[in-house]
Amino acid sequence: MTDTLTLRRPDDWHLHLRDGDMLRAVLPHTAAHFARAIIMPNLVPPVVTLSDAQAYHARIIAALPEGAAFTPLMTLYLTEDTDPDDVEAAHASGLVHAVKLYPAGATTNSASGVTNFEKVAPVFDRMAAIGLPLCTHGEVTDADVDIFDREAVFIDRVLDPIRRQHPDLRVVMEHITTSNAVDYIHANDTNIAATITTHHLVINRNHILAGGVKPHYYCLPVAKRESHRLALRAAATSGDTRFFLGTDSAPHTDAGKLQACGCAGCFTAPNTLSILAEVFEQEGALEQLEAFTSRNGPAFYGLPVNEDTITLTRQAPSYPRNIDTLDGPVTIFDPDMPLHWRVT
Ligand code: NCD
Ligand code: ZN
Repeated sequence: MTDTLTLRRPDDWHLHLRDGDMLRAVLPHTAAHFARAIIMPNLVPPVVTLSDAQAYHARIIAALPEGAAFTPLMTLYLTEDTDPDDVEAAHASGLVHAVKLYPAGATTNSASGVTNFEKVAPVFDRMAAIGLPLCTHGEVTDADVDIFDREAVFIDRVLDPIRRQHPDLRVVMEHITTSNAVDYIHANDTNIAATITTHHLVINRNHILAGGVKPHYYCLPVAKRESHRLALRAAATSGDTRFFLGTDSAPHTDAGKLQACGCAGCFTAPNTLSILAEVFEQEGALEQLEAFTSRNGPAFYGLPVNEDTITLTRQAPSYPRNIDTLDGPVTIFDPDMPLHWRVT
């Protein structure tokens, strides 16, 4: 039995860092383990232009702990007014690595997202021409579509038509939660990849709803039934280069989560690697962990892999139930199982 695991330093291909006091509180937890992360642009107001991204990038760098080596890979929030020339300049700046599509109203701070996809077709054309990936929050928002079906319906009604109209557009289906998404990836091998979160490998919808509602397990896209979780675990641990880690670590204060209309998001930055090692070991696939956390993502984004490494040892990790922020406590995701791997 292996007792140490050395991996190329991981990257997180989908991360919420927020801003201000929350940014300063959560960033050290990601920077401690990860070399780079794709930074979500859903601030209020959102990060829409290159100049917004430059300013947010500077605030992240300023919030880094002394001596931390961490590179934020910025994204632009796609709106119906996004200017293709600004997107091209953003890509050329070397700072911006993707454009994020939120269907309007799909999730936290997505009010400025897209309703009319025809309006953004010129942006997609430009992105396809310059090779800049589109990251998708893959859920439709129609009130008449059941929340558990919104990802599958998005694939049929939105994603597949966009990809047919823009075959050269490189797309990341983010935080996939269904076997439908896994099947879609398997059936399409060019210009497409998917990120999978830590928590969706661990929880199904029973964790949220059975025996009392558990707001800390509520995130979007919402966890689905067990068969979908098993499909995600098979995909993540398969070594298939089209699947890689995007934690979607999304901190909200306990006050924000524990209310009549609670916020969506799980905060997994501090314990993600311990949980992933556990999941991969349960699946008998520890040898695939590095591909998922450290190799497949850079390959899709056209970036070099990290040269330095991190080591996990077989030892129970210790971390608090929550972290303190000046906005209030933020609960760390509880994997609801014993963990045996600690980052050393
Ligand atoms: C994210 C957030 O809080 O910003 N929440 C979540 O449940 N994942 C938004 C998102 O990625 O959907
Ligand atoms: Zn997210």
